[in-house]
Amino acid sequence: MVRAGIWGVGKAIPEKVLTNADLEKMVDTSHEWIIERTGIVERRIASPEQSSSDLASAAALDALRAAEVDVGELDMIIVATATPDMVFPATACLVQAEIGAKNAAAFDLLAGCTGFIYALDLAVRAVETGAYKRVLVIGADVLSKITNWRDRTTCVLFGDGAGACVVAPVKRGGVISTYLGADGSGGDKLSVPAGGSRLPLSAEVLEQGLHYIHMVGKEVFKFAVRIMGEASLEALQRAGLQPEDVDLLIPHQANIRIIDAAAKRLDLSPEKVFVNVDRYGNTGAASIPIAVHEALAQGGLLPGKRVVLVGFGAGLTYGACVLEWNSREDRLL
Ligand code: UT7
Repeated sequence: MVRAGIWGVGKAIPEKVLTNADLEKMVDTSHEWIIERTGIVERRIASPEQSSSDLASAAALDALRAAEVDVGELDMIIVATATPDMVFPATACLVQAEIGAKNAAAFDLLAGCTGFIYALDLAVRAVETGAYKRVLVIGADVLSKITNWRDRTTCVLFGDGAGACVVAPVKRGGVISTYLGADGSGGDKLSVPAGGSRLPLSAEVLEQGLHYIHMVGKEVFKFAVRIMGEASLEALQRAGLQPEDVDLLIPHQANIRIIDAAAKRLDLSPEKVFVNVDRYGNTGAASIPIAVHEALAQGGLLPGKRVVLVGFGAGLTYGACVLEWNSREDRLL
């Protein structure tokens, strides 16, 4: 069986910055509260005309450039998103058309903020079998468009963005293990209740704000604190590794307190934990690939480094992935 690794990473973030000071003017909150409870300083917000497929396409082209892969070589595109451009067609199909990936199958995957890890797992399996050779995995979300900007308990948390990576065969290293899970009984703790087949959009639904993110923050927090450590440990065990073998933990960027709890469970020192939640807030499925892109740019992902990606999200879902970062020479052409 061939191994699968990441050949190139890309990202796209909107220009507009929304600071905590801006939020103080919109809802009853304070910079101090937001910093203390979440670690977030600012987040990026898409323009009115910018959708998930726009950011996803830009991130995709960036990843293809980094991977030195021609768009025509792509044979599959998976977009992990909770904010598709529309119910259908899939956002992945819009991306396929936008970037001109004529030879790629394309579909969306919904696993909330864990979506990127779910999609990465599928891409890795597809490449390992030999059935697919160049899979584009994208995490893209424009959560600002399903955020109730009058609800201080949610609107301070989220931001917009996209991250992408090209998954393809490698001679060594690459993805060593993955672990995915879900607890659907907790689905009502983090949801967008309306706009689907259970509660189609109507004037009444809009009036009640049921088309926005609804969250029982404390419950999601408790779940996240427990599951981030557990999922990481399970993925490490499947890889035959110990927490002390980890060079870098790249967790879903939802809340600094959740990240710190995961790091503590693995007994990792702060320099082994990647954090950018302060600059972007929670960008949903985009959070992990954006973080991977920035960790790489900052020199934290040298070839041979052992990395754990871990996330949780709506579903409730969770997942982790252990990989060994590849050099350009590791690519199996
Ligand atoms: O990708 C998954 C997405 N979801 C998450 O990651 C969410 C996970 N949960 C969390 O990160 C945390 O639960 C929050 C950051 C959402 C909230 O932090 P908390 O420490 O659990 O605060 P809390 O909900 O217990 O609220 C404490 C107080 C409350 O006031 P009272 O009842 O004690 O008087 C809230 O009304 O803080 C109040 N509060 C705020 N105050 C100022 C809630 N939101 C705000 C706010 N500004 N934005």
